[in-house]
Amino acid sequence: LTTDARDMRELILVGMGAGNPDHLTVEGARAIREADLILLPRKGMDKSDLADLRLRIVATVTEGRSPPVAAFDIPRRNPHLPYLEAVERWHDAIAAAWLSTLAEAREARRIALLVWGDPALYDSTLRIAARLTPRPAVRVIPGITALQALTAAHAIPLATLGGSVTITTGRRLRAGGWPAGAETVAVMLDGACAFRTLPQTDLHIWWGAYLGMPEQLLRAGPLHEISATIVDLRAKARADHGWIMDTYLLRHS
Ligand SMILES: C[S@@+](CC[C@H](N)C(=O)[O-])C[C@H]1O[C@@H](n2cnc3c(N)ncnc32)[C@H](O)[C@@H]1O
Repeated sequence: LTTDARDMRELILVGMGAGNPDHLTVEGARAIREADLILLPRKGMDKSDLADLRLRIVATVTEGRSPPVAAFDIPRRNPHLPYLEAVERWHDAIAAAWLSTLAEAREARRIALLVWGDPALYDSTLRIAARLTPRPAVRVIPGITALQALTAAHAIPLATLGGSVTITTGRRLRAGGWPAGAETVAVMLDGACAFRTLPQTDLHIWWGAYLGMPEQLLRAGPLHEISATIVDLRAKARADHGWIMDTYLLRHS
């Protein structure tokens, strides 16, 4: 992937929080106001009611005087390729979409892209940015993660006293079971309630969906007591809203 040398510019990845517009940092708000261009994904994670959250955040922090917005459609992932290869090709295609969108705004030097939660946590924006040639200067402004929103909503510490935390995905929890030696396990990207596959004897769960949003749901308790409730609640909420995002913590009681 190549661009003209004049396209050397700054790409500012602004962590926007996990759904609550008030979670944007002062630093993030300033970067949005001072940007020459906002790069805006039109599909992907922005399902249904999330579609205009980025635009609302931009409009709020700029008090209606938004920098120009350049929208790009997120390409589709090829479902016929093996998972990792499909993701690699998909990231190439997103980088190409950024480049062709940015090529139409050559004079813009500071380009801001709002990233869900924090760019460092289960997000590939930095990997996609690394594909751009010549590589722009990349600046990351951290945001509130779904994990922070979860522990804040339950008012619990992430780790036990001096303890460790393992952050993992639903897919890995289902495939590998309880991570060896783990104390606290934080699970994200779980479309199928992987906690059901664990021996439920002495585990406690703190679960949250739509964290930080008006439709936020929270449940906490011994896993064997509330596992079925969460499964039902999740299915119903998903059917009602057409989408769901949830995150949970597990530890031995
Ligand atoms: C692709 S990852 C992005 C994580 C994001 N970068 C962050 O810092 O939180 C998406 C996963 O984050 C979690 N997530 C993001 N927003 C959430 C929310 N508002 N409520 C619950 N979980 C959320 C879910 O586990 C979802 O599957």
